[in-house]
Amino acid sequence: MNPYYPHLFSPIRVGNIWLKNRIGMSAMDTCYFSMNGTLTPKAVAHYLERAKGGAGLIVTEISPIDWPHGKQSRREPCFNNPNVTPEWAELIQQVHSFGAKIIAQIGHAGFISFPEFNDGEQPVTAWADESGSNAVSGEANPARTITVEEIHYLLDKVRDCARNIESCGFDGIEFHAAHDYLLNEFLSPLTNRRTDEYGGSTENRARFLLECIQVAKEELAPGKIISLKFASCEEVEGGMTLEEGGRIAKMCEEAGANLIDCSVGQGPDGNATEAEWLPDGRRIPYATAIKPYVDKAVIGVVGKLRDPQMCEDSIAEGKTDMVFLARQMLCDPYWAKKAETGHADEIRKCLSCREGCFAQFRPKSGSIRCVINPYTGFEDKATEHNPGKAYEPKNVLVVGGGIAGMQAAIIAKKRGHNVSLVEKTDKLGGQMQLAGLPPYKQAILDAKDWFIAELARVGVVPELGVTITKEEILKRKPDVALLAVGSVPSRPPVPGIEFAEDGWDVLRDTVHYPENKEIVIIGGGTVGCEIAHTLIEKGNHISIIEMLPGLSLKQNMVHRQHNQQILDAANTDIYLENTVTEVSKNEIKCRDKEGNIHTIACDIVICASGQKPKDTSFATELRAAGIDTYTLGDATDTGDFRTATRSAMDVVMGI
Ligand SMILES: Cc1cc2nc3c(=O)[nH]c(=O)nc-3n(C[C@H](O)[C@H](O)[C@H](O)COP(=O)(O)O)c2cc1C
Ligand code: SF4
Repeated sequence: MNPYYPHLFSPIRVGNIWLKNRIGMSAMDTCYFSMNGTLTPKAVAHYLERAKGGAGLIVTEISPIDWPHGKQSRREPCFNNPNVTPEWAELIQQVHSFGAKIIAQIGHAGFISFPEFNDGEQPVTAWADESGSNAVSGEANPARTITVEEIHYLLDKVRDCARNIESCGFDGIEFHAAHDYLLNEFLSPLTNRRTDEYGGSTENRARFLLECIQVAKEELAPGKIISLKFASCEEVEGGMTLEEGGRIAKMCEEAGANLIDCSVGQGPDGNATEAEWLPDGRRIPYATAIKPYVDKAVIGVVGKLRDPQMCEDSIAEGKTDMVFLARQMLCDPYWAKKAETGHADEIRKCLSCREGCFAQFRPKSGSIRCVINPYTGFEDKATEHNPGKAYEPKNVLVVGGGIAGMQAAIIAKKRGHNVSLVEKTDKLGGQMQLAGLPPYKQAILDAKDWFIAELARVGVVPELGVTITKEEILKRKPDVALLAVGSVPSRPPVPGIEFAEDGWDVLRDTVHYPENKEIVIIGGGTVGCEIAHTLIEKGNHISIIEMLPGLSLKQNMVHRQHNQQILDAANTDIYLENTVTEVSKNEIKCRDKEGNIHTIACDIVICASGQKPKDTSFATELRAAGIDTYTLGDATDTGDFRTATRSAMDVVMGI
């Protein structure tokens, strides 16, 4: 029995297959596959790293049953092709050698398929009304209603996939019947208003899913896992309730499903992949509600599960049988191993920011990453536990103890270099210390503490409170200097700008910040919006002036919508496509896009109009003196955590 989390690490039987623990890696579309849906070294390394990391069950990412139709992103795996078998068989064998089991997820993205990834074909859905609007979002829906003949055709395609999945040697199959996907569209009374045998009653709406399960049962060896990524309920009026979800779960069990991973169906964008402001383990009650409906099927739950103790307790208390983790497995593939061996405090916890994973895979050629784990997506070249030894150990001096400097020092030390890290303040963390202050951003402070602790674990002792000059670097004469000195606020060159306070200073001292004042923020990027959130909580009224046509345009859609909701609820005045022309003590002047100048009266002006790299021009002199010198992170080009950790890895892997 595991001494730390005995329930989490107890085996469980699904069908005839024993899982070594209760931890599943939930399916995630990585975009690591080739354009024709075959495995790549990157995809293989990604799955192997999570199997090594201790997960009991790996669920591979969505594969469209009628590839490429029903794709949601550019590079999804294809199981329609029987020639894919040998490569998968090899991967499966290796996953098994780490004691994990692996099942393949298949599905169809229905009305959320992208025509550009579908040979340009119009997406199909369970039911599309004549106005073409999506019943949940209200947005124009280009999909058309799928015919009964096409449903039967798709069932043939499910059979092809199931046959190939079986011949690869997978331990089972999973159907994606959640998150707006086609099978979810069929289940939902909101998006299925068909009048034939596939619509109307619960039984009719479940028919397509039940037929899929039946096909899988016929094609897989007896006792294999038949799993559902299940829309246990829909968090939107008129959608499936937990009671109906329970009844459907029972029907699926009777048809042959032996694992039901409780997720959500259609609902507000972001509910299926919770951001910072939604609580951890939010969906555990859904699993608990579905459980009594089934007899033998194993019940799992997914959604913002990061804390092993929460997972342990929910299994111990009978709320769920298993837990499934998605983003946390990107952020720390060794989540399970660390918990199992009593090192849960070493887990690098996911920020729930969606910026490295979700936001990165949709753009052309994008694939998933993690903002605080630069190895994610690069595991075919290096892994956290095996970043490779440098050809020759060197004396490496890292200047700056922000995220880029800390990440660089950690990798350099692991690669065998002799590392010194100097930080001019008395604390490590740089901008992480401030970025973690706005509401819901505590996870950033936890991540900062993780980096600090990891530095200690690898044996880098930082020199704090040390301002190092060019002369000092020349005197120390390291082999390599890594300048991770960060950035400074960039202010618009307008008259009176000296009256504006600096946004970072405001965050640094929000405790003493005024309440119930009129505040104007120059800059509506992420930082400007987060400062606004912080000050709204203190009862201030905010106006934001932004040059661009939208607020926080660099953030993903869910975060932008959330920003907007908070600002709207506080009656924030937002001036888009406006340029500040003058600041004075109690007012600010701006020019709108028509060229009209207007004045906003205020008590305080705050400048959050971006950052610029600190001066590192002395790098040339260091190089001339024979010191191999690089800039990292914001010191090269202002960016975010993702660009900071990535630049650290790119540079340090080369020295
Ligand atoms: C980048 C990304 C891709 C995803 N792709 C899939 C997918 O292919 N199939 C699926 O069922 N869920 C997918 N999901 C949803 C996750 O499996 C999971 O249900 C969700 O992220 C909530 O779990 P988490 O909080 O542990 O991330 C994806 C999530 C992310 C972040
Ligand atoms: S990018 Fe953000 S949300 Fe995604 S895995 Fe990394 S920390 Fe988590």
